[in-house]
Amino acid sequence: MAHDLIGLSDLSAARLRELLVSTQDMAGRGRERWWGGELDSTVTALVFLEDSTRTRLSFEIAAARLGGRTVVLSGKGSSVAKGESLADTVRTVEAMGVDAIVLRAGEDQGAQTAADALDCPLINAGAGAHEHPTQGLLDAYALAEAAGRLGSFDLGGLTLAVVGDIDHSRVARSDIAGMTALGARVVCVGPEAMCSDSISSLGCEVVRDFDSVIGEVDGVQMLRVQFERHADEQIGSLEAYRASYALTEARAARMKEGAVVMHPGPANRGLEIDDVVADGPRSIIRRQVACGVWVRMAVLASCLAP
Ligand code: NCD
Repeated sequence: MAHDLIGLSDLSAARLRELLVSTQDMAGRGRERWWGGELDSTVTALVFLEDSTRTRLSFEIAAARLGGRTVVLSGKGSSVAKGESLADTVRTVEAMGVDAIVLRAGEDQGAQTAADALDCPLINAGAGAHEHPTQGLLDAYALAEAAGRLGSFDLGGLTLAVVGDIDHSRVARSDIAGMTALGARVVCVGPEAMCSDSISSLGCEVVRDFDSVIGEVDGVQMLRVQFERHADEQIGSLEAYRASYALTEARAARMKEGAVVMHPGPANRGLEIDDVVADGPRSIIRRQVACGVWVRMAVLASCLAP
């Protein structure tokens, strides 16, 4: 359906730019538009079947800022815990008369399955290891802002390294789809156990040696090691992982002037990223969080538009 948002790989560069331009408009509104706007008289259901801090709260704040109401269903304590299917759950929520559903699901195909079952708009808030489109949009917005590319959202000539647990990351897939469509070069960096060669079919490069690229990138998106999606033996030695793939103070010192440090959060501090880097002058991690509210305002306004 035209009003769903399942993944950035489904969107044209023109559509991505349209959403980012709308995000810039939302960012410029300030707080005076609280409690009024495009979502007046609407109810959006946030169905979160996996844990979340940033995504869930920022969707709630985004809807509130545009005058909409939200209701929240989390997996724990719902009939999902009794074995109800995803399609039945979202159809039940829709039957109560909501205007849209924002869904976080554990299955890779969760967002598509739900969209197929629904007549109302479905916005993917993270599906398994498939896509997390609003995160990809906010990352593109934050990088564009840092690089002085607001307005055009042309990321041509920029290189972004996405580092770590790529195979398990829905963030990585949305970042690759969005950033490459906007013209950036994306380099995925990680060990074979976490970053398969096949990921290059999505339009990125695969590099095993972080130190060989750290000096040439305009941004580094560090990913959380997704312990909950690994069998223990897959991860191996955390010391070895850190030595090769962490963004340490020493590695960050080799980044070129103006290059930025990103992380979608939550971070395993001391594993994939050092405190002094996460909180240091190159870090735009908290700016990413702020951009997340504006992106979700833009997405909700677009998907709920008549
Ligand atoms: C991410 C997610 O849930 O996909 N978090 C987020 O939405 N900011 C990344 C993660 O869990 O590592």
